Amino acid sequence: MAPCPGTRHGLFGRAAKVWRLEAVSRAPILDFRRAVSFDRPAIHGEAGLPKDTLETSAALAPEVREPTAGVPVVRADAIRKSFGDNVVLDDVDLTVDAGEVLVVIGPSGSGKSTLLRCINLLEPVDSGRIFFEGREITASGVKVNQVRQQIGIVFQQFNLFPHLNVIDNLTVAARRVRKIPRATAEVRALELLRRVGLEEKARQYPHQLSGGQQQRVAIARALMMEPHVMLFDEVTSALDPELVGEVLIVMRDLARSGMTMIIVTHEMQFARDVGDILIFIDEGRIVEQGKPVDVLDQPKQERTRRFLRRSLQLAESLQELTVEEVESDEEGGKE
Ligand SMILES: Nc1ncnc2c1ncn2[C@@H]1O[C@H](COP(=O)(O)OP(=O)(O)OP(=O)(O)O)[C@@H](O)[C@H]1O
Ligand SMILES: [Mg+2]
Repeated sequence: MAPCPGTRHGLFGRAAKVWRLEAVSRAPILDFRRAVSFDRPAIHGEAGLPKDTLETSAALAPEVREPTAGVPVVRADAIRKSFGDNVVLDDVDLTVDAGEVLVVIGPSGSGKSTLLRCINLLEPVDSGRIFFEGREITASGVKVNQVRQQIGIVFQQFNLFPHLNVIDNLTVAARRVRKIPRATAEVRALELLRRVGLEEKARQYPHQLSGGQQQRVAIARALMMEPHVMLFDEVTSALDPELVGEVLIVMRDLARSGMTMIIVTHEMQFARDVGDILIFIDEGRIVEQGKPVDVLDQPKQERTRRFLRRSLQLAESLQELTVEEVESDEEGGKE
């Protein structure tokens, strides 16, 4: 099937998403493993150093550090979180091992964003504990900023600094927080921009980029701090349908490069393709979890079935349609 041309219009916009995922799975892999690391600052990657330097060195260090065997990257143990009387997370346990991709799905208001925000220490939990690489990060005395550097997060809204160009958006935290020299930070930034297909946009400002490009910049920016895990909160939800695929490709390749990831998404096909484990959360509780294919195709709980039925209803009704019908409908719409 040819990649869908994409459209902004209602139902067919949703259809475009379904088709685009096929294009995603055929796309080449962006190799994040080869991104330049600050740990090896003498090497300037492919962004400028002579070829022989690259070939004879360990310049392109893996993005992902060696995990400690048997220790999960993230573990939540019975976490609870309320806003006033509203219990938003209710006894949530989860474990994400190194290199694993955990996908979280659930209805609006079920606590998905709050879960990510608690893991990133943007919200304190009321009770329960969160461990990051074996260390309790909900304990008192933990250096929150240090932990956050290792837990990258990307939101639905890209939150780029509008007054900074792309490369400064990427390097500002590394320069100010980690005191990395500008030249070194820019080498890594350019390498990451290349990985997300945006090296040529380095000197442009956010308003000069499409939503998909801005979101790819936001992902590259989160990778600048060499996080050990990446959290994604519905990062394609604010995008026009035709821009969703390019962001999913970047995330898929990041997963394939071995990055540990927790992804909140409504993109079920993506969840199935990229996830190792899928959690369905409702009213702050994990209702069901397992391999994505099992939970999505054979949900055990009635609540999960109802949620998936509603989510898939539209896509299923669209399966009857052909591209030609959509295109002719669009043609008609233009007249
Ligand atoms: N800072 C806050 N103060 C008060 N209530 C909040 C706050 N943040 C979230 N909530 C409430 O917590 C509940 C869960 O919100 P959350 O954003 O985690 O849901 P969600 O699953 O991410 O939903 P969506 O799919 O719409 O993004 C909601 O009832 C929300 O109103
Ligand atoms: Mg949310």
